[in-house]
Amino acid sequence: MRPPRRLPLPLGSPRLTLRLPTLADSEDYFRILSAPEVRRLMHPDEPWTREHVRANIARRRREAREGFRYDLAVELRSIHRVVGRVALKGLDHQHRRAELAYWFGPWYWGSGLATEATYTLCRAAFRDLRLHRIDAGVFEGNPRSIALLERLGFQREGTLREAFRDGRRWVAMYQYGLLREDPLLPS
Ligand SMILES: CC(C)(COP(=O)(O)OP(=O)(O)OC[C@H]1O[C@@H](n2cnc3c(N)ncnc32)[C@H](O)[C@@H]1OP(=O)(O)O)[C@@H](O)C(=O)NCCC(=O)NCCS
Repeated sequence: MRPPRRLPLPLGSPRLTLRLPTLADSEDYFRILSAPEVRRLMHPDEPWTREHVRANIARRRREAREGFRYDLAVELRSIHRVVGRVALKGLDHQHRRAELAYWFGPWYWGSGLATEATYTLCRAAFRDLRLHRIDAGVFEGNPRSIALLERLGFQREGTLREAFRDGRRWVAMYQYGLLREDPLLPS
């Protein structure tokens, strides 16, 4: 069997560098993941302690070496800080698909940074990993994430009704997909 294709890291865009996280990024990660706006939308099922963040960063580096998950820190070069994270999870090289995931610090929302980073990762996924399809799931009640996916060109392909528990309420999850022949970031 052919070895899996690799992403040529780091990836660059006009304002950003997408690279493997290091332990030096732990505080930026912890600050973002502790923000109530992010916790509410990510539905974390366990507390995100500093140790948890550090262990996760080490795991993400190992997984990228193995080529089955690229979980990348998004650095805003002008301030040398991590402003968010974008990921291709569950890379399936046989069926050439993966799932897109992301979060950004609420202080940076509304600046187009998430669009720039996810566009850069999706483009590299089609170009360098030769993926055929990228999946993304988003909870109802996350209009920013829905807008981001639709801005990128993802199409809503289905709804998982009452898929998750949010406190006392069931919430639906929308399933999105982007194929390699779909226009990425259609104007
Ligand atoms: C989902 C998330 C990443 C979206 O962030 P965002 O800030 O809305 O996305 P962007 O950085 O691309 O910014 C888009 C906004 O910037 C504006 N913008 C400015 N310059 C832009 C540019 N060059 N390109 C695109 N948009 C630009 C857009 O018009 C849009 O404005 P609006 O907020 O008034 O609609 C963010 O809300 C988040 O981290 N949420 C918590 C985690 C989460 O929900 N993850 C997803 C789980 S499914």
